[in-house]
Amino acid sequence: MTITDELQELRERGLAAIAGAADLPALEAARVAYLGKKSELTSTLRGLGQLAADMRATVGQHANELRADFEEALEQRKAALAGAALSATIESGRLDVSLPGRARPLGTQHLINAIKDEVSEIFFGLGYRLAEGPEVEDDFHNFTALNHSPMHPARSASDTFYVRDLSEEGAAFDGPEPSEILMRTHTSPVQIRTLQAQQPPVYVISPGKVYRRDIADPTHLPQFTQMEGLAIDEHLTFADLKGTLDYVVRKIFGEQRRTRFRPHFFPFTEPSAEVDVSCGVCGGVGCRFCKGTGWIEILGCGMVDPNVLVNTGIDPERYQGFAFGMGVERIAALRYDMPDIRLLIEGDMRFLRQF
Ligand code: DAH
Repeated sequence: MTITDELQELRERGLAAIAGAADLPALEAARVAYLGKKSELTSTLRGLGQLAADMRATVGQHANELRADFEEALEQRKAALAGAALSATIESGRLDVSLPGRARPLGTQHLINAIKDEVSEIFFGLGYRLAEGPEVEDDFHNFTALNHSPMHPARSASDTFYVRDLSEEGAAFDGPEPSEILMRTHTSPVQIRTLQAQQPPVYVISPGKVYRRDIADPTHLPQFTQMEGLAIDEHLTFADLKGTLDYVVRKIFGEQRRTRFRPHFFPFTEPSAEVDVSCGVCGGVGCRFCKGTGWIEILGCGMVDPNVLVNTGIDPERYQGFAFGMGVERIAALRYDMPDIRLLIEGDMRFLRQF
């Protein structure tokens, strides 16, 4: 084989190796093999001096051309591999902006809390403040201080959940004395706690959970929500009570609604009243919803009994005021024509999402 033939063979091998390099490290290996210090081409170029003068020129020219061709092939292959690597990176990180997004469900406030907040805001606008008390109460705050007689039926164990102290190995189970500790049956004990802690003028509302030994049915729940109100000041009269509640009821149910005060009895107010709102279904003429009366009962209220003021150390000669209590679930049921208030606590999203 002549030197020229050898160079031709080397060209074919070298170009094939460069073209076949699958990645940048393989290409570098090909460069070392065909252009490096120990490559055949380098030794050919180094050996030119030993050749006859006429051969030297031809072989030298061919070898230099081959080096230039190898270098060019390496550059091209390098550019191609770099381009492929970039395309692969782009492809793997591809973002399909036409794909629909993943919607995350947004939580909303439960209707009971929404109404509680809404009614609270109405009272805040009238200058009332928030007052709170414990759900586990004692007999004094829940009944006695609120002027309930010792034999009042609400005290019975069939109406009220009593809390037993199990810390002494269940000893209290057999004790003859009914527990003094109970789940509050209304938010009215917060009136007592507020008046014990603070001198008049007092203008507070107190929303919260209350508990009664009722079986759940369309209009009763063993745990429900009340909104208590208390105003104690000098010179407050029943007219202030009427004006306040008439305003609030219209804010809740709409300006076109009317209110009606009916005499009633509560141990802690005197006189006491129940307040009805005109029926929203028939406008007050009478229908099935309001049992033909045109009115729907929504809250209890009255002038605070002087005994309650005395029980909390407040001078009834100087101060007087009014109190009221309403059921939050009942407001929700009336406002949205709910046939059954149990829907409010069952957690069925198909129902709750409507609000
Ligand atoms: N505590 C009463 C109840 O649970 C509601 C109530 C009536 C509260 C009259 C009051 C009031 O403050 O004055 O049925």
